[in-house]
This record gives sequence, C-alpha cells and structure tokens, in this order.
Amino acid sequence: MWAYEKKLQYPVCIKSKDLKMAQLLLTQYGGPSGELSASLQYMTQRYSMPTAQTKALLTDIATEEMGHIEMIATMVHQIFSNATFAEIKAAGLDKYYVLHGKGLFYSDPNGYNWTADYISCKGDAVVDLTRDMAAEEEARISYEYLINQTNDQSIIDPLVFLREREIVHYQRFGEALVKVRDMPNCKFYM
Ligand SMILES: [Fe+2]
Repeated sequence: MWAYEKKLQYPVCIKSKDLKMAQLLLTQYGGPSGELSASLQYMTQRYSMPTAQTKALLTDIATEEMGHIEMIATMVHQIFSNATFAEIKAAGLDKYYVLHGKGLFYSDPNGYNWTADYISCKGDAVVDLTRDMAAEEEARISYEYLINQTNDQSIIDPLVFLREREIVHYQRFGEALVKVRDMPNCKFYM
C-alpha cells in the first residue's frame, strides 16, 4: 500500500517550448533504461530477495522511481502545454501528436512503446542486484546525455537532481550486493 504525497520530489517549472527536448526526455519515460523500467523491475524483484532489508531497499527505490516518472512526465507535459500544434509539427512530433495528442505515453523518442522485455527478474539476488546496478548506471549516463542537449537551466536542474539519485541508488544496490554475497550458501563467483 502506498500513501501519495501531492508534491514532486524536486520542483519542475519549465517555461520554454523546447519540443525537441520534450521528445528526448521520453527516453527516461518509456525508454529501455527509463524510470518506468527501473520502478517495475525493482518492484517485482523484491519478492525473491533473501532478507527483509533487501526487500525493503528494492521497494523503497522502486517507489522513488515512481516519483521520478512523475517528474519526467511533468517536464514533458509542461513543454507540450506551452506549444501550439504548428510548433509540434515543426519539431517533428506530429506522429506522436496524432497518436497521443499532448498526452503522456510510455514510448521512447523513436516511437517505440515500452515493453516488459526491457526488464528482468531472475529470482536470484546476486543476478538481480547486479542487473539493478547496471540499470542505475544506464539511467545516470542517460541523464548525462540529456543534460548535454540543452542550455535551459529549468530543464537542467531537475535532470541533475535525477542523475544524482541514480548514483545514490547504484551505491545502495552495491552495498546490498556485498551483504547478499557474504550470506552463507550464496553462490558468487569471482
Ligand atoms: Fe534510480
């Protein structure tokens, strides 16, 4: 059960009509290493984690990733809201528009829809936590690439915040992996 707090984890206030950037931001919405993938992957892996601590960690991070989905959605929504249809067409987003209008949909900038094939659950804590660490690094570098695409500080600031959270998550998963592989009967090969 979740309690919803009606406040973004980090404030988003974009005044520009940078539709190219809105399109690129979809990478972290419905893309393979986006926030939806991270959240749903951790949420389902938690059930086969070996300790209450690791279950709690995955649930906590999955929940925070939901908050990050909300931030990315707000960023894209604000940019879409500021734009006219002519501007949307000029930015090459007319195909997205005829499918979804100015609504948010879980697809990537190339128009590929989100799929569960992007995520993994092997039911083995070493495998899953290793995968989660890679997922966080993929998300971190994706934010790095997105930050490099714009000079708009109102877009950069939330992206920097999100990038920092991926680093924290990577570290937390790393600590959990060390604890899991030190458990008796854990199969871990170096
Ligand atoms: Fe994360």
